[in-house]
Amino acid sequence: MHGTIFTLLKRYVQTQYDHSTWVRLTESVGLSAADFDHKSVYPDEQMYALVGKASEMAGIPASELQEKFGEYLVPDLMYMYQKLLQPEWTTLDMLEHTENTMHRKVRQEHAENTPPVLEVTRLSEDELEIKYVSERRMGALAVGIVRGVAAYYDEADRIAIDPETSEDGQRVYIRVRRLTAAE
Ligand code: HEM
Repeated sequence: MHGTIFTLLKRYVQTQYDHSTWVRLTESVGLSAADFDHKSVYPDEQMYALVGKASEMAGIPASELQEKFGEYLVPDLMYMYQKLLQPEWTTLDMLEHTENTMHRKVRQEHAENTPPVLEVTRLSEDELEIKYVSERRMGALAVGIVRGVAAYYDEADRIAIDPETSEDGQRVYIRVRRLTAAE
């Protein structure tokens, strides 16, 4: 997986916990390099091991850690790819366009980059369904990212996010709905 995701996981652990937690974490999964290069791709297994061990150390399920980490990732991802964001977008538009703009660009940058396929069906102006497809089975991260996107657009209290399937499958369906004023 993309070095950026590793770098942000490192920063997440350092800020939510502390630097020594990060050091213990990398040691416990047998990682010698504690720095990750943005232009490199690292084995997915290292990400799984880090997330698994971090959740153990934090005493929370891996899915919860992925969700929190996903939420944390968003401002940096948005900043890095800001040129691709349209100023008129809000949460649902951004989600609708991730596959054909941001994730497409990520795929073009490096042949080894394989972000998940996000098939998004816009059901109405206020509702869409995301079909997440990835062998990495990181649907919980996707749910966290959606939450982070809603927070980014200052819509966190108006966006309902409902995973319709188990979050740890290769295919995860997530319903995202903007609440109307009456709700
Ligand atoms: C500014 C918007 C976004 C950018 C720039 C971005 C970028 C990336 C990058 C660089 C990766 C690593 C890919 C790899 O190493 O192969 C990735 C993975 C991922 N992205 Fe995105 N992403 C964005 C939005 C989203 C959204 C909205 C979702 C969810 C609905 C999402 C879900 C994921 C997940 C779950 C992964 C982990 C890998 C996997 O499950 O296969 N991303 N993304």
